[in-house]
Amino acid sequence: MNSVSLSFPVHIAPITAIGSLLGASAAMQEVFRLIERVGPTEASVLLTGESGSGKELAARSIHECSARRQGPFLAINCGAIPAGLIEAELFGYEKGSFTGAVRAHAGVFERAQGGTLLLDEVTEMPLDMQTRLLRVLETRKFYRVGASTEFICDVRVIAATNRCPLQAVQSGQLREDLLYRLAVFPVALPPLRSRGEDVELLAEHFLAELNAQGRTQKRLSALARMTLKQHTWPGNVRELKNCVERAYILADTVLELAPLIQGAARGVDAANDRERLDIRVGSRIHDMERSLIEATLDYFKGNKRRAADALGCSLKTLYNKLNGYSQSQECANS
Ligand SMILES: Nc1ncnc2c1ncn2[C@@H]1O[C@H](COP(=O)(O)OP(=O)(O)OP(=O)(O)O)[C@@H](O)[C@H]1O
Ligand SMILES: [Mg+2]
Repeated sequence: MNSVSLSFPVHIAPITAIGSLLGASAAMQEVFRLIERVGPTEASVLLTGESGSGKELAARSIHECSARRQGPFLAINCGAIPAGLIEAELFGYEKGSFTGAVRAHAGVFERAQGGTLLLDEVTEMPLDMQTRLLRVLETRKFYRVGASTEFICDVRVIAATNRCPLQAVQSGQLREDLLYRLAVFPVALPPLRSRGEDVELLAEHFLAELNAQGRTQKRLSALARMTLKQHTWPGNVRELKNCVERAYILADTVLELAPLIQGAARGVDAANDRERLDIRVGSRIHDMERSLIEATLDYFKGNKRRAADALGCSLKTLYNKLNGYSQSQECANS
């Protein structure tokens, strides 16, 4: 699948996407370039990146870029399965092969036949299973637990981890030979904090999705936009998405993010002090004025007369400014 340009209701760069994986930053353009290269091949891919940075979405995009796209895409979290059950989950079992195996069960390697299997948190897999996995990757054959005939699998494996794989090898948690087998093609998802304008693009995208679902026209306040820039997003895109959704639910028309972000006290602390607005040195005068006007309106709960009085301008001037903002937003949307 080729990358496509989508237009979103934002005034920055056009957003680019592979599947549902979005981004316009240079860091994400590099990820898209790698995915477009490796997608159509059969190479194993090792996705690394902090939690919530989009590894599963990237794996889906690789699947969508491949000739296997009509086949299944399955993801299994190796860290979430008890050690005693992981073999059965991966390779399946025959009826009667152990107590409780009342019927035969196909494992994920069988169910992903013709498609792609994502082994998430691969470093959490017990070492003896890593040995089995390596053998399967090399021979493309495995036995269901309790079976006597081999299953020949046609599955592309993508692995993901939010740990440093080399450190996992050094600490004895990941077999070195498995790492090199999995990491034929490594792709590192950058943390959201190093994706610059993508934070706002993604926030607008998630908001647009919510607006479409709810048939609403809610929008981000200028204060919320500043919060987006100032927060470091330790939970990455997942944190951003959840934050926008919470703010959307709470808002009548204008979304506030600062009260929802723990530790966002740097900059705008609207939770405790709605009277303060920190402006970064070097901000554009136009942006600063807009932030101040919107924050003041928020503070006076939308009462324009009181906001205009506090701002020291006429009500007419305030209306003119607000009209100007909504017109520039409409231009950006069109
Ligand atoms: N670039 C992106 N564009 C749009 N949505 C994204 C992007 N990256 C992540 N998301 C969304 O953020 C959420 C988290 O993404 P995902 O599950 O892929 O992260 P992850 O790296 O696999 O996390 P974990 O390490 O916790 O498993 C998902 O809802 C996903 O759809
Ligand atoms: Mg994941």
